[in-house]
Amino acid sequence: PGSARVFSGIQPTGVPHLGNYLGALENWVALQNQYPSVLYSIVDLHSITQAQHPDQLRNNILDMAASLLACGINPEKAILFQQSQVSEHAELCWILGCLTSMPRLRHLPQWKMKSKEKNEGSVGLYTYPVLQAADILLYKSTHVPVGEDQVQHLELAQDLARIFNNRYGELFPEPRALLSSTRKVKSLRNPVTKMSKSDPQTMATISLTDSPDDVALKIRRAVTDFTSEVTFDPETRPGVSNLVTIHAAVAKLSVEEALSQAGGMDTGAYKGLVSEAVIQRLTPIREEIQRLRADRAHLEGLLAQGKHRARELAAPVLAEVRHRVGF
Ligand code: ADP
Ligand code: NA
Repeated sequence: PGSARVFSGIQPTGVPHLGNYLGALENWVALQNQYPSVLYSIVDLHSITQAQHPDQLRNNILDMAASLLACGINPEKAILFQQSQVSEHAELCWILGCLTSMPRLRHLPQWKMKSKEKNEGSVGLYTYPVLQAADILLYKSTHVPVGEDQVQHLELAQDLARIFNNRYGELFPEPRALLSSTRKVKSLRNPVTKMSKSDPQTMATISLTDSPDDVALKIRRAVTDFTSEVTFDPETRPGVSNLVTIHAAVAKLSVEEALSQAGGMDTGAYKGLVSEAVIQRLTPIREEIQRLRADRAHLEGLLAQGKHRARELAAPVLAEVRHRVGF
């Protein structure tokens, strides 16, 4: 449909890991070819809900931009921009926050999890889902690729669209979730938890810029069990099943096809096959990230273009919101 618009965001955590790529970014690349209007935002306003070192944050923003481009995000097909450069996000967040009750936020998963970790969370962490709603509604987005963990946050965006429309007249479409693949890449050290950037064990996570040697070492050391056969049973054999998941995903095979390639191998030999497949898939991405990273001015120029294109869409929507509210 002509008015369909996709919006998604990712925090500037530097170079993404294999789980981010296979669970989210690969799908982002597909969506830019399927939808007429697509925006991808590096959500730096969200990232300061946790303490960030300023120089590190600046680097991480550029590293994420380089990574998204290297993964295949095409600025001709998707507007790639830095959230804080479009101040309309923060302004709409304030207005939507005034339509959000405190209890509505208290039970959302991210707050429950992260505020507990810290004992006390900031107001920003508490209202994080309102900013997400603002990100989406600011562009009258209709489709939002999200992981399962974000579904409740998207429901808040839907509620806020409805609440705004009821109070001020129809303006926002209710955004729909595009559940990205339910594929979850697990930690290589503890395969019952997901691969995550916050994992303190560096051997648990494969970064898109890991060298072939690093990839091979991490996969060789990946935790498996005492059965040498290669089978797929995530419940009882999470370690080897995670390797099958990774193999299938990077080589674009079904699980059955991956297993048949493993035919007769023990887990040790299979690890060699999996690391070859991962290295083959990541090498062009790693090389492109390194090439792009070396030219900060080019990346900053691309983000400046993205900012202008995003603002062109955001400004008239926010102007209409301001008018409806009475400003
Ligand atoms: P992290 O868990 O490393 O902090 P984020 O929460 O920033 O990653 O996730 C960014 C995107 O990557 C989200 O869409 C999320 O669903 C996806 N993602 C993160 N980790 C994984 C994983 N291990 N497997 C699949 N997808 C993942
Ligand atoms: Na998350």
